[in-house]
Amino acid sequence: MTEHSEPSESHRRTVQDSACVMNEIVLPNDTNNLGNMMGGRLLHLMDICAAISAQRHTNHVCVTASVDHVEFQSPIRQGEIVTLRSRVNRAFRTSMEVEIHVWAENALEKTVRKCNKAFYTFVAVDEENTPVRVPEIVPETEAEKRCYANAAKRREMRLILSGRMTWGQAHHLKDDLFAALTER
Ligand SMILES: CC(C)(COP(=O)(O)OP(=O)(O)OC[C@H]1O[C@@H](n2cnc3c(N)ncnc32)[C@H](O)[C@@H]1OP(=O)(O)O)[C@@H](O)C(=O)NCCC(=O)NCCS
Repeated sequence: MTEHSEPSESHRRTVQDSACVMNEIVLPNDTNNLGNMMGGRLLHLMDICAAISAQRHTNHVCVTASVDHVEFQSPIRQGEIVTLRSRVNRAFRTSMEVEIHVWAENALEKTVRKCNKAFYTFVAVDEENTPVRVPEIVPETEAEKRCYANAAKRREMRLILSGRMTWGQAHHLKDDLFAALTER
């Protein structure tokens, strides 16, 4: 699958097709001694929500390959409602980047605040856990197109950091640096 080939109509998948929204209420078992939701519990929910997006996009079982840019911005209290929203930003060969955002709603105080965000990389696999090719994704809105472009740079960043790519192979990052260095 090349980045520039036009997908056929039957393989045309949009970002919205992969969207997933999940709601959960924070119960005592989900919290630490301060009454705040534990990070590991939230990451578990994020993993599930992001996996649904990946599987909606690919119609395959998808496994988590990496998680990055996790930001715990605000603690979530017992009794609050957690809303998770995920979508596939970009599909590559067998992997895809899923972006996820988390909000906490306090129904008693009628407030909603942003609490967390992360990027998950999922790989579609067959019954033998062998990676399989994934359909391309077609970004439609300006925001989706921006996320699509930046996903390629983040992929190169995470592959360099995990030792799976050399700087010389990071074409999107290099293009960006070149553009930044030659900007007048
Ligand atoms: C993810 C997994 C299938 C990749 O297998 P692999 O033998 O490394 O396969 P490949 O080298 O062909 O890589 C497959 C894809 O994964 C991507 N990938 C592998 N490691 C990655 C990492 N650390 N970060 C981002 N992407 C990664 C590769 O870039 C490749 O993507 P592409 O085909 O779109 O270019 C394998 O490592 C695995 O099964 N991991 C365990 C998954 C799991 O159990 N997750 C739950 C954790 S409890």
